[in-house]
Amino acid sequence: MNKPLLAGVVGHPITHSKSPKLHSYWLKKYNIQGHYVPIDLSPKKFEEGINSLILLGFKGVNVTIPHKEAALHIAHEVSDSARKIGAANTLYFRNGKIIADNTDAYGFMENLRQNAPDWRASSGAALVLGAGGAARAIIYALLKEGAPAVKITNRTKEKAEILAQHFGDNVEVIDWNSRNECVQSVKTLVNTTSLGMTGQPDLDISLSNADCLVTDIVYNPLQTALFKQAKDNGLMTVDGLGMLLHQAVPGFQGWFGHKPEVDAALRKTVLEA
Ligand code: ATR
Repeated sequence: MNKPLLAGVVGHPITHSKSPKLHSYWLKKYNIQGHYVPIDLSPKKFEEGINSLILLGFKGVNVTIPHKEAALHIAHEVSDSARKIGAANTLYFRNGKIIADNTDAYGFMENLRQNAPDWRASSGAALVLGAGGAARAIIYALLKEGAPAVKITNRTKEKAEILAQHFGDNVEVIDWNSRNECVQSVKTLVNTTSLGMTGQPDLDISLSNADCLVTDIVYNPLQTALFKQAKDNGLMTVDGLGMLLHQAVPGFQGWFGHKPEVDAALRKTVLEA
């Protein structure tokens, strides 16, 4: 009998992660002999822990908070997206070497491709709300996909300015108080802040004169106030769950050798997790 293929997700804490449910669903669906396990490693134990997983024969892991930057430093090879985003969320272990990738930009774009097939990044400027780690991946994705300009707005303006400098000429910082005017001139609006998440205040923005695709990385709840307002205004909307599901595809394919599908049954399984 062949040995089962092993992969997992490393974080600290890790109990909240939906990834084990997601990958286990695919392992079962495709009848693959493998396991995907949650692994709690403190920052101090991160590098040693990863090396132990390599010795145990793991094919790789997802990495989540607080290890996404440390993962870049211990890697032997770093993909273009991980380098430019400045963080890794997926590691592949090959011949004793660590290859770091970031699949958040891929996940963001595939979610839009699947759920808004007529949308094009190139159709106009995009407005990104927020300047954290998710914003970095999404700005990278939008520029790579041909958005002619990306505007960033954040409560703490300095963080948006750092991002704008990092990404260069086609990225502009907008004052947080100007978001209602700015949204009227863009073709894509992305919320990457935690506003709208269960337990957080709603995002305060007016879409009454907007003509853009609206997408939110918040998926708990699935229908955020932003999402509902966009729907009420007849705008195209894509919820945030798909990004989480699609970003998992390259890792699964790399570790387990099969490109998995993101479908309605997977959405249901992960929502119930
Ligand atoms: P992630 O890395 O997942 O994107 P993060 O770095 O914690 O998460 O970023 C959260 C984002 O939500 C930030 O842009 C944050 O704004 P600040 O940089 O000013 O903190 C934004 N955010 C959180 N609470 C907010 C609030 N009440 N009003 C406006 N923005 C808020």
